[in-house]
Amino acid sequence: MRRSCILSLTLLGAASSSLAAGVTVQKPGLTVPAKYASQKAAAEKIFTTSYSAYREFAFGHDELHPVSEGVGDDLGGWGASLVDAMGTLLVMGLDDLFVEAVNFTSTLDFNTPPVPQDISVFETTIRWVGGLISAYELSGEKFPILVTKAKEVADKLAFAWIDGNAMPYNTMDFTTNSPVIQTTNIAQVGTLTLEWSALSKYTGNATYKELAEKGTIAVAELATPLPGLAPQVVDPATGQFADAYITWGGGSDSYFEYLLKYARYTNNANNIFIDTWKTAVDSSIHTLLKTSTVGDWSFLADQDDQGLIRHVGSHLACFYAGNWLLGGQLLKNQTIVDIALKLNDGCWNTYAGTATGIGPETFAFIGTDGNFTGGSAITAAQLAFYNEHGYYITGSDYIQRPEVLESNFYAWRVTGDTKYLDRAADAIASFNKFLPTTVAFACLNDVNNPSAGFIDDMESFWFAEVLKYLYLTFDDPNHISLDTHVWNTECHPLIAPPALSSYQGSGSLIPPKPFTTPTSIAPRPAVSPKTQPSGVPAQ
Ligand SMILES: *[C@@H]1O[C@H](CO)[C@@H](O)[C@H](O)[C@H]1NC(C)=O
Ligand SMILES: *[C@@H]1O[C@H](CO)[C@@H](O)[C@H](O)[C@H]1NC(C)=O
Ligand SMILES: *[C@@H]1O[C@H](CO)[C@@H](O)[C@H](O)[C@H]1NC(C)=O
Ligand SMILES: *[C@@H]1O[C@H](CO)[C@@H](O)[C@H](O)[C@H]1NC(C)=O
Repeated sequence: MRRSCILSLTLLGAASSSLAAGVTVQKPGLTVPAKYASQKAAAEKIFTTSYSAYREFAFGHDELHPVSEGVGDDLGGWGASLVDAMGTLLVMGLDDLFVEAVNFTSTLDFNTPPVPQDISVFETTIRWVGGLISAYELSGEKFPILVTKAKEVADKLAFAWIDGNAMPYNTMDFTTNSPVIQTTNIAQVGTLTLEWSALSKYTGNATYKELAEKGTIAVAELATPLPGLAPQVVDPATGQFADAYITWGGGSDSYFEYLLKYARYTNNANNIFIDTWKTAVDSSIHTLLKTSTVGDWSFLADQDDQGLIRHVGSHLACFYAGNWLLGGQLLKNQTIVDIALKLNDGCWNTYAGTATGIGPETFAFIGTDGNFTGGSAITAAQLAFYNEHGYYITGSDYIQRPEVLESNFYAWRVTGDTKYLDRAADAIASFNKFLPTTVAFACLNDVNNPSAGFIDDMESFWFAEVLKYLYLTFDDPNHISLDTHVWNTECHPLIAPPALSSYQGSGSLIPPKPFTTPTSIAPRPAVSPKTQPSGVPAQ
């Protein structure tokens, strides 16, 4: 594919701002040893194979079903894979394909979904608002239509805030511009700030930023079961929590992720974001940080509605290692960095232990403090696996999640230890061995049993996240740097201001406030592909 100069202009800007005197996240002077050049090419090859199959069989649809060569449109039908791929096309220098994608997005009509269905505020924000604005920046602001389209979809999503509620409902009927009245979760409420602030920046309309901020702040101001650690379910009508379940996993995950990233993106314009994140991490170290009896692997457990520690982990939650690395660096706190590296090792171990070298959706541990999981008792086969690997599989599928490789990318950029490059290379080899269908790359039913077959999905975040994190792991660290960009939860990089010299915020943790467990605990909500908390395959 021909490469033009769209990206190189952006790079000059990025490189110069990394010279600012603020705190740095990446190891200074980092370079990727030449012997890894073939790995960068291998990541690009997986991407171009996947994308060319999408173009051939599913162009303009949300996803290609890579086994049946059919299409899926469960995210509204506005070309989720194409929009999610746009930033990766630019990062890889595939400019002709990018221009074709801009052409396609310019035709999108967000007034009603092409395929009738309710629309998720969260899923739509992280892909379309985040993806279009990131592509606008990465292409040197050459295509204002990308901002126009992000604004059009956000103007529809903005109807999710009704009745003066601070928090949005999450599920929208775009035909009537009205939300479905039901509980939501803190991930859905708290993962809008980066995208909607970026949109305010480029449209000059402050309303987007204000709406997103007030939802997150409303969550952060409530009393919580443990300081800084909001439980999962919230009701926008009452503005209160509807459960007491604490997890860094799906349904909560990116609320915590964005507390930190938004503090960085806004350079602590309001201390509530960094103060709450620091408090959440401090509470997690005291209460949720556990180690396994075999292998001494670190993980962050859940605390359930009854206050019991559940010794469980998930692929989704494994973003925490990268997030704590970013936060530890910004706070210049080596304790947090060191714990993050151990959490990262624990997550990578879930890849290293399986027959495919790919990690499962959910897993569990026997902790030094007990083995309660809230689920079924451990089976003999699980115990045997645990005794060998220090974790056991409770949800065996792989649905092209990025989080383990995302954290591995942060670990490389922060430490410069080439073992993280080797891990990424191992993942590429496993993907090439176990995921290819006739035309593209699919999801797996059982990471520990290759003969259990495919799940007929190729997720939009395969393009946005897995393949961009892998490629960037082997790319020049100054190209898209952790010191110049903040990544949204869908791996769309947004240009960050030059860093502050300190992100300590108010300097204090948030004191505990009395928390009353709700009398009727809401069921943990059914959540969509990106946040689903259990081992249920997407769709
Ligand atoms: C984009 O659209 C314009 C006008 O419709 C067309 O001339 C051009 O060839 C298209 N480019 C690509 C890459 O599809
Ligand atoms: C700003 O955006 C909001 C949300 O879509 C909209 O209601 C408002 O009319 C916009 N304001 C201006 C001045 O365009
Ligand atoms: C680093 O973070 C840990 C965990 O919150 C905290 O106990 C410690 O005091 C912090 N260290 C510094 C130097 O701020
Ligand atoms: C916990 O350990 C006990 C005793 O070994 C065992 O009977 C039980 O099945 C285990 N429970 C879980 C959830 O692993």
